[in-house]
Amino acid sequence: MTQLEPDTSATPPTPASAPGSAADRLEAERAAGGSVVEVSFTVNGDAQTHTLEARRTLSDVIRSECGLTGTHVGCEHGVCGACTVLIDGEPSRSCLMLATQAIGAEITTIEGLARPNGEPHPIQQAMMEAHGFQCAFCAPGFLMSTLALLDENPSPTEDEIRDELSGNLCRCTGYQSIVDGVQCAVRARNEGSES
Ligand code: FES
Ligand code: FES
Repeated sequence: MTQLEPDTSATPPTPASAPGSAADRLEAERAAGGSVVEVSFTVNGDAQTHTLEARRTLSDVIRSECGLTGTHVGCEHGVCGACTVLIDGEPSRSCLMLATQAIGAEITTIEGLARPNGEPHPIQQAMMEAHGFQCAFCAPGFLMSTLALLDENPSPTEDEIRDELSGNLCRCTGYQSIVDGVQCAVRARNEGSES
């Protein structure tokens, strides 16, 4: 076995508090004095209701309950922007929100960008053509922020793009390729190639 291969020979210990099921988990939460709530919202056009611990963040619920793991979690304290989703059209850091704060909201995640036929959204296409990302861990956040930017300002200057995306961090690219990708998306939109 190399250092890169996980050691699967030993069975990991199960914590005494490990939940056996969602019902067990919620019961444990109640027993510990926590609140259990029902939250309803729309995710990428799909109306959903979940019963969960009131203390859970929206990013956790999107990934674990909605099964939409395209929303990435990096810093978990509002710095990196990887967890950005749209809440009623506004870019929001889902790691800083409780799921209860999104009750009744329309949430758009990165999974909501592609066309119904599976084709990438024009912004995704532009980013691919510009080779905007390297590892792409930051990509979902940048793409959601870009979507909000271009909805509000269809022809941003480079300074406006940099300013608007300054809340998203990328540790690979130096940002120029991402800015190039946004400008590519702007050109495509202005040339009428966006359907
Ligand atoms: Fe939310 Fe970094 S994970 S801002
Ligand atoms: Fe790797 Fe941005 S491409 S963090």
